[in-house]
Amino acid sequence: MNKTIIVSNRLPVSLQLKSGKFEFKASAGGLATGLGSIYKQGENLWIGWPGNAVEDRQQQVEVADELKKLKMAPVFLSKEDIELYYEGFSNETIWPAFHYFTQYINYEDAYWEAYCAVNKKFCDAILAVAEPTDTIWVHDYQLLLLPMMLREALPDATIAFFQHIPFPSYEIIRMLPWRKQLLEGMVGADLIGFHTYDDMRHFLSAVGRILGLSNESGYIQADHRLVNVDSFPMGIDYDKFAQAALSKKTLSKKKKFKDQLGDQKLLITIDRLDYSKGIPQRIRAFDKLLEEREDFHGKVSMIMVVVPSRAKVQSYMKLKKEIDTLVGRINSKYSTLNWVPIHYFYRGFPFEELSAFYSMSDIALVTPLRDGMNLVCKEFVASKTDQDGVLILSEMAGASKELVDAILVNPNDILAVKQAIIDALTMEEAERKSRIGSMQASLRRYDIFQWVDVFMDRLTHVKQKQQEFQ
Ligand code: G6P
Repeated sequence: MNKTIIVSNRLPVSLQLKSGKFEFKASAGGLATGLGSIYKQGENLWIGWPGNAVEDRQQQVEVADELKKLKMAPVFLSKEDIELYYEGFSNETIWPAFHYFTQYINYEDAYWEAYCAVNKKFCDAILAVAEPTDTIWVHDYQLLLLPMMLREALPDATIAFFQHIPFPSYEIIRMLPWRKQLLEGMVGADLIGFHTYDDMRHFLSAVGRILGLSNESGYIQADHRLVNVDSFPMGIDYDKFAQAALSKKTLSKKKKFKDQLGDQKLLITIDRLDYSKGIPQRIRAFDKLLEEREDFHGKVSMIMVVVPSRAKVQSYMKLKKEIDTLVGRINSKYSTLNWVPIHYFYRGFPFEELSAFYSMSDIALVTPLRDGMNLVCKEFVASKTDQDGVLILSEMAGASKELVDAILVNPNDILAVKQAIIDALTMEEAERKSRIGSMQASLRRYDIFQWVDVFMDRLTHVKQKQQEFQ
């Protein structure tokens, strides 16, 4: 009986070490929920890093035993792996390059070597449990070399790869000294998925120009093997957000927050602290609005949740300082004793509180400079069960290709973002409802479970097509 193995850099739980003892915190992320329908079945499992460096052998055994009960298996990263592979090549080389932040790319041979070594570590962990014809679904940019490593060891396995971040133009890819190896790593898969059509086109163009492999309707022929490449826009667990917005817990949080804030219009922004999210630009747009429109003072405020992320990487530290300074400047300039323009939180929140933030806010401001998909905008739309709210969305987010009823903006255009906030604040109720209503209809239909089904069905189809081709 074949099994399915899900592989990602992080497991859907994270290991917390508290005074020598460990515990697991489940991830509330949509991907974890969607893939739950796969890895929790039969002999299936999920392989990945549990977070933190566990270097003690005995403790590693205990962690592995605990994870086994959750249908997971760990790949342990040493402190050096974390520094060179995770913070280094993954987040100081690939992440900035693939998000078009070429000024932040760090070209370090030591990072590259660690990236190869850790991809191999993942491969070994998979080979320890995989049978020759199992299905292995690898996720995201931290593991680009893994599909080919697996293909070489398990030529008959079914291997899929999904990239959750953008795939940039050939002009960016060619800057990386390791471009050929990275692409060769990916084409080890039978099916390669991206969030958008543009990402898929960029990948096919890079494969054509760098590996010399042409494609026909999204099929490339690599080593006499057909590889299918396509776009599969990921959805969210729609019902979870829609139901949570009406749950007792959320409603009581919402009432408490609303009482504290009084009668004002609320803008919500939620992101990981990341330069790709356009946080300073968004704050500047809000500043511009307050500068020009005194009539909004005391009547609008922004709830800004910034979730700590990759805090040891230099560019992230720099960004944190910039955001702190900007928020400080605006709040000190405009605050009154009973009004603060930006409620800034540098921490994560429990699900019910996020749900309350979404459902009580009038406007969501989601303005990344570049984003593979962006799920926050989808979560906001799903949470507006009264169908009243406005989404302002960056054209640079993958989600903008689906959510065309949002107010779409160029996030670099501060004046356009400012104007979009004014348009959202003054939009008629009928228009707000009709826009949210149509976005809800499509998000409800193409949810995360549908995404998993469509992807897995395609994988089966690709394998059949390969057999006909042989
Ligand atoms: C993005 C990536 C994921 C990553 C997540 C959090 O969504 O696509 O692969 O896990 O960010 O980043 P972190 O570095 O904390 O894993």
